[in-house]
Amino acid sequence: MNEIVDQCVRAFQTRYGEAPETVVQAPGRVNLIGEHTDYNEGFVFPATIDRWIVFAARARSDNQAHLHAVSFNEDVSFTINRRLEKAGDWGDYARGMVSEFQTANLRIGGFEGVIAGNVPLGAGLSSSAAVEMAIGKGLLELFDIQMTGQRLATIGQAAENNFVGVNCGIMDQFVSANGRADHALFLDCRDLSFELVPLVREDLKIVICNSGVTRGLTDSAYNERRSACERGVHQLSLATGKNLPSLRDVNLETLEGWRGAVTEEGYRRCRHVITEIARTQLAFTSLGNGDLESFGGLMRASHESLKSDYEVSGAELDQLVQIAWDTSGVIGARMTGAGFGGCTVNLVEADAVDTLVRAVEEQYSQKSEYTAEVYVCRAVDGAGVE
Ligand code: GLA
Repeated sequence: MNEIVDQCVRAFQTRYGEAPETVVQAPGRVNLIGEHTDYNEGFVFPATIDRWIVFAARARSDNQAHLHAVSFNEDVSFTINRRLEKAGDWGDYARGMVSEFQTANLRIGGFEGVIAGNVPLGAGLSSSAAVEMAIGKGLLELFDIQMTGQRLATIGQAAENNFVGVNCGIMDQFVSANGRADHALFLDCRDLSFELVPLVREDLKIVICNSGVTRGLTDSAYNERRSACERGVHQLSLATGKNLPSLRDVNLETLEGWRGAVTEEGYRRCRHVITEIARTQLAFTSLGNGDLESFGGLMRASHESLKSDYEVSGAELDQLVQIAWDTSGVIGARMTGAGFGGCTVNLVEADAVDTLVRAVEEQYSQKSEYTAEVYVCRAVDGAGVE
């Protein structure tokens, strides 16, 4: 992290001739289990990773915003007012945050800053949520606004939903803002209550395999899945005559009993969400009890459900997961994040990490045209001042 902070501060100094007023960071995340459950008011179980977005900034006396992104070597500028327009570039994350700060009647003025980071882009490790949380945290610092991490996460999600145009849930922003070093975060997406679960075990590692297949979340497929869930729960409400606000309120028995009320595809989409919510609760208990075997089994079932019922996996993710399942010492493996490319998450016995890395190196490139990158990660503190 220090390297990125240095890089960011140096870039700031080169551009603006002075040290920044504030330097903040926000981490990326990996989801252990609970996929596509957040926008169904279910449970998720992510952890932050030791990959960050750093934002160095200072306030300006006018209402102009100037930003430089080190990774793209690009600049964006906009005027802070109530009618910000989407431009279709990375600056939209900043415009979105500013716009939502304004909607919430939080007083901010102009600012200038530099963004740097090492969260892989488009890899499903929440680089965009980390950008939103870093900018949000920076604005809180620059304009002396007090706010909980919970609220900042909600503002980030609103920026993504209303401004960027991705109908994402709350998971990514929430864990980036509220995560803690060496802990996973079990979140109830209905009321945003959460519990931090220790992940410190010398003999256990979280390993991420990046398939190299990138995607933009703005892909319609994500929004489509979300609509399928909303449609499903609406149809089930009508059929049962019950008020079912979300798939969280539907159990498998009800879905089976009213199967005819939804399409065949809708049935599978709902089944994934309902079973995944249950798996996530079980996984939380398993981890608490140190029952890693059941945790691993739940990860596997999650992947299978995402593949067959929710249909958001892909050949590369399936290959990476299969390689991991076939490697001894791997406790569990599944795709992580929205899917359609991106990464897998693996829970691995520490002394099996090298074997997994080798297996991925040897087997993945034979089966796929992509090259995988492997990261052994550690959970870190959520968004904060450097
Ligand atoms: C993306 C979204 C999250 C969540 C996951 C799938 O990461 O941003 O809100 O829906 O996909 O679990």
